[in-house]
Amino acid sequence: MVQDNVLLRMEGICKSFPGVKALDNVQLTLRRGTVHALMGENGAGKSTLMKCLFGIYHKDDGHIYLEGNEVNFKNSREALDNGVAMVHQELNQALKRNVMDNIWLGRYPKIPGTPLVSEKQMYADTMKVFNDLKIDVDPKTVMSTMPVSKRQMVEIAKAVSFNSKVIVLDEPTSSLTEEEVDHLFRIINMLRDRGCGIIYISHKMDEILRISDEVTIMRDGQYIATRPSKELTKEEIIRLMVGREMTNQFPPKLHCGADENIMTVEHLTAAYSLLNDVSFSLKKGEILGVAGLDGSGRTELLENIFGAATRKGGTITVHGKTVKNSTPKEAIRNGFALVTEERRATGIFSILDIRENTVISSLKSYLSGFLLQNKKMEQATASMIDAMRIKTPSQKTKIQSLSGGNQQKVIFGRWILTQPDILLLDEPTRGIDVGAKYEIYQLIQNLSKEGKSVVMVSSEMPELLGVCDRILVMSGGRLAGEVDADHTSQEEIMTLAAKYV
Ligand SMILES: Nc1ncnc2c1ncn2[C@@H]1O[C@H](COP(=O)(O)OP(=O)(O)OP(=O)(O)O)[C@@H](O)[C@H]1O
Ligand SMILES: [Mg+2]
Repeated sequence: MVQDNVLLRMEGICKSFPGVKALDNVQLTLRRGTVHALMGENGAGKSTLMKCLFGIYHKDDGHIYLEGNEVNFKNSREALDNGVAMVHQELNQALKRNVMDNIWLGRYPKIPGTPLVSEKQMYADTMKVFNDLKIDVDPKTVMSTMPVSKRQMVEIAKAVSFNSKVIVLDEPTSSLTEEEVDHLFRIINMLRDRGCGIIYISHKMDEILRISDEVTIMRDGQYIATRPSKELTKEEIIRLMVGREMTNQFPPKLHCGADENIMTVEHLTAAYSLLNDVSFSLKKGEILGVAGLDGSGRTELLENIFGAATRKGGTITVHGKTVKNSTPKEAIRNGFALVTEERRATGIFSILDIRENTVISSLKSYLSGFLLQNKKMEQATASMIDAMRIKTPSQKTKIQSLSGGNQQKVIFGRWILTQPDILLLDEPTRGIDVGAKYEIYQLIQNLSKEGKSVVMVSSEMPELLGVCDRILVMSGGRLAGEVDADHTSQEEIMTLAAKYV
């Protein structure tokens, strides 16, 4: 009977890429009507395993059984036709087309008796899926005009529209707001009640414990364990993932903030966003957090300081001198760097290798006369690979063959190497595993020790409390307050965050 419950079984899956054994004898058993979380550090092989299932990669060895029958999908179309759908970590959508085109691409409904596409039918079919999932999007909206979170919802609707039995969600919530996550979880629960099996990949421990029935953990391309979620704690998951005890999530604070102010921001107001009359100062060596709800203007604050958005008013003073920062280029010259939250979308030169991607923003420092010194670039890249434990066979590997989280680390390293005086970080650990988060926190602490100042936006309150010296709280585009990170609570911050909502 138990056997009947099995929807999908993957056994002894192996997959190698040049220089990497990405999967080594991995197994996974998905039961009907359950949510199965797949966890592991960046580069553990989660996405690769799912791509082997979905026919994007071809496994070197092993067997896949769907409802007891061995399957070996040659491509994703075949997987979809057989009831297996996947929402990818990197969205790959036709941005110039509208929502319904994206959902039905390659299987448009036809006007009966003709080869013509029935737009009317397509609209109705889309609305049916959206109503079922309570998704509030007009099927005729052009994809590029929607925020990433909405696009992600469309992708999920698309997966559901194939009437799939198995749905793989690879880090679906990395760009969703809290409300959207709740919505997604309602959809997942509904699918589970209908008997689907859902494979859920995420680095967010709380989400995993909330939504999943079982958890499979991988490490370095190997299968480690499968456990019922009820029997797992965060600490246990971390131990299984990392392979060692991790008693501290955060390195000790160094509190390097000097008395001297490095930057003063006064009455900063944006031309095209809700950011309004924000004033604060930043000390040399200080780590300043920025808290607030989604849409409270945190990203806009960083973008305005960095010259990536148009300012309506306000001044920025650095070392006592007014700076304009009208463009990012000017800001970089003034000693600023911004690591954006959509790093993967905005920061990666996919045809270049890791070394090139790492040094590209600090090329000047490797120049000798007109020549770039390869040795120096190699050393700089090696230091970043080492500091953040970037998992790659070599510096010459193309960045696009790295796992999602490792790509993020490369971009992070790129900006560290520009030696900025003021480093602006937007969600620096999004999509990054627990072990690597620690490395990044340490990197931030070390920068502050060298007298660099950091402004860090994060939606993870424990991270702000665990890393920062001081925290600004934004609400409705305004500054709602400022707290000492060592003498505040999540409650106090939440209260401030709701001040102007
Ligand atoms: N197309 C490819 N070419 C070469 N190597 C690859 C390719 N795809 C994945 N790899 C390698 O396989 C390993 C596993 O990567 P994978 O993307 O499966 O990790 P992941 O567990 O999904 O990590 P993350 O949490 O960062 O998304 C990594 O070392 C990665 O560099
Ligand atoms: Mg992945």
